[in-house]
Amino acid sequence: MHKISTRLINSGKQESQLSINTINPPLHRASTVLFDSYADMLKANQGRFEGIEYGTSGLAAQKAFESAMTELEGAHGCRAFQSGIAAIAMVLTAFTAQGDHILICDNVYGPTRRFCNEMLAKYGVTTEFLPSASGADISGFIRENTRLVFMESPGSNTFEIQDIPAITKVCREKGIVTVMDNTWATPLYLNPFKLGVDVSIQSATKYITGHSDILLGTVSATEEHWETFEKCCGIYEAFASQEDCYQALRGLRTLQVRLRQHEKSALEIARWLSGHEAVESVIHPALESHPQHEIWKRDFTGSSGLFGFTLREDLENKDHALFVDSLKLFGLGYSWGGYKSLITGGRFQRTNPFGYEGKTIFRLNIGLEDPQDLMDDLDQGLGRI
Ligand SMILES: Cc1ncc(COP(=O)(O)O)c(C=O)c1O
Repeated sequence: MHKISTRLINSGKQESQLSINTINPPLHRASTVLFDSYADMLKANQGRFEGIEYGTSGLAAQKAFESAMTELEGAHGCRAFQSGIAAIAMVLTAFTAQGDHILICDNVYGPTRRFCNEMLAKYGVTTEFLPSASGADISGFIRENTRLVFMESPGSNTFEIQDIPAITKVCREKGIVTVMDNTWATPLYLNPFKLGVDVSIQSATKYITGHSDILLGTVSATEEHWETFEKCCGIYEAFASQEDCYQALRGLRTLQVRLRQHEKSALEIARWLSGHEAVESVIHPALESHPQHEIWKRDFTGSSGLFGFTLREDLENKDHALFVDSLKLFGLGYSWGGYKSLITGGRFQRTNPFGYEGKTIFRLNIGLEDPQDLMDDLDQGLGRI
């Protein structure tokens, strides 16, 4: 019999001895993963081991979530990261090198722009921003050294749509990698791979996890681009939290049910706002009034709960503040896709083909509350000004 200190360390069955068959994956807490034999360790030393050799390789919950996303998106593979922006940064790092030129749609999420301007620039990658409603006209921006085109459609603040098939057609002919931030539509309402995109990104922080309590991102890619991407992830030893991946997998199970409600309520509220006397315009791709509604209808199978609107021109900053600060049901905070309704507002210093340049755009994340209560709250807020 070993001494008590040794028994304290070695007592209890290891996971491999506890074959319990649950519906959901186990939650591992692990840095070290044990090898079955010295031969396996030697293989790992030489980079030839096929299994999981360390916590950063991805443990059960991460693997389960990644394989579910791979299947849902029709990708070759998927990797999870600590946040959406970490996923974006990994893609931009994996597919660029010194001397490259890349094209980024002007409506991208702010930190995506910042990563290009402040980090990639440091390593000799030149970023050029494309008009947000680009399509086949992208040809005019392509240079000899253009390596990557990054789309976000619709843009998550200004809601311009890109003509994705037209862009991917041009890029395929020239061997340029196309990347799509598909967070707004989720894999349920848009399949980027069917439209010719090479790499699809989700901020799973939004609809996939759905409860404003987790930060998580995913990257899925085609077989052609998988090896390049995986190699970069391996060099960074990038991984995601097991608990967060577990919750994301749980989120996927109810995504369709939640998203249907977000969509229905958001459309009802967007239509109602369109007729409100204090509102100048509502910017929602699924409304006929959106200038690119026809492209949206062609490519997307649904809309989510995030859209924007502007107020009458004669209203000033103090009116905006009065309106926002008087809302009772809308939280004032960043991010979206969760069950609670949120509002953000601000001026976007970027080009806009539809006349919103320099205007204050309010953005609503419509949550799962009763839509009539939300409209009553907006109405009382707008009534203050
Ligand atoms: C369109 C879009 N992509 C990516 C991100 C980044 O996601 P995360 O908050 O998970 O870093 C956001 C965040 O708001 C977003 O709106």
